[in-house]
Amino acid sequence: MAVPATMRAVEITKPGGPEVLAVCERRVPVPQAGQVLIEVAFAGVNRPDALQRAGAYAPPPSASPLPGLEAAGRIAAVGPGVAEWKVGDEVCALLPGGGYAEYALAPAAHALPVPKGMGLREAACLPETFFTVWTNVFERGGLTAGERFLVHGGSSGIGTTAIQLAHAFGARVFTTAGSAEKCTACLTLGAERAVNYREEDFVAVLKAEGGANLILDMVGGDYLPRNVQALADDGRLVQIAFLSGPKVELNFAQVMARRLTITGSTLRPQSDLAKARIARALRETVWPLIEAGRIAPVMDSEFPLAEAAAAHARIESSGHVGKIVLKVR
Ligand SMILES: NC(=O)c1ccc[n+]([C@@H]2O[C@H](COP(=O)([O-])OP(=O)(O)OC[C@H]3O[C@@H](n4cnc5c(N)ncnc54)[C@H](OP(=O)(O)O)[C@@H]3O)[C@@H](O)[C@H]2O)c1
Repeated sequence: MAVPATMRAVEITKPGGPEVLAVCERRVPVPQAGQVLIEVAFAGVNRPDALQRAGAYAPPPSASPLPGLEAAGRIAAVGPGVAEWKVGDEVCALLPGGGYAEYALAPAAHALPVPKGMGLREAACLPETFFTVWTNVFERGGLTAGERFLVHGGSSGIGTTAIQLAHAFGARVFTTAGSAEKCTACLTLGAERAVNYREEDFVAVLKAEGGANLILDMVGGDYLPRNVQALADDGRLVQIAFLSGPKVELNFAQVMARRLTITGSTLRPQSDLAKARIARALRETVWPLIEAGRIAPVMDSEFPLAEAAAAHARIESSGHVGKIVLKVR
């Protein structure tokens, strides 16, 4: 596979709205030890990309400043010491950045095979949400079969993944979303109850069921004290974002008296080793479910790479259900 010297990419010209995204030309990066170079076919769009574009989520120092946390395509070159992939292999990969480009670097251990039977378009939408949900819901949150699991933002990329995975592993899934259509979509994915938060109080719904054993939350703000109320005794709350803000007044007596756990994490700054461990767990435990057709990314829309700004406007409109993808070639 001949690799050109330069490539088309999308850069963040300055912090701001979607209009600051612009097509640019860059040198094709060269894979270093332990890295692979991917000829990108599709790149997933995630809310953290929009945060980075707005200047609210700086990439780690060693990462490409170009946006894009996941992609799928073919291996175009491998760096020294890479034995598990060869040129031409079809992969999807979690990226430290740089997915909005014709070529992107990934640590070899953060790439996964495209699941059998799946196209590159869908595969590009797997890594960011599957890594995030796996580590936060099952590893950190310890979700087990039969437990009551509440995920907020059920129609988001993260939410649609969390509903399907929790359901597949035998949990009872509750979720919140902002419209009747979004709630219907969540029910078809395996949620037993979808609460339209504009019309109903999720705390009352969960309390009537005995409380949530685990909550995955991306909203924060006034959801924090309400999540605490909605938890069952010994319940766990895992925070992965604060769309409504991180500061709030909270009575911690509840946490003590009812033995609650409040935790959280972000994926991007974690070590390469930690992400490689998550990739192995996904390959062993979740890839078989995808290949069996039990789980699939929910596809919202596709935009050409040059229209990344429109893709960002769509994700920030919150009109979408599931994943937005950029077609790179
Ligand atoms: N910690 C990590 O490692 C990690 C990794 C990836 C993503 N994340 C975070 O997880 C969240 C979901 O990511 P995603 O890519 O799946 O995003 P997404 O598809 O854009 O989903 C966000 C959804 O949240 C809902 N929402 C609820 N309250 C909101 C508010 N106050 N402002 C905006 N939206 C609100 C919206 O739907 P409705 O309001 O209509 O229900 C929206 O569709 C993001 O906040 C992202 O930054 C964290």
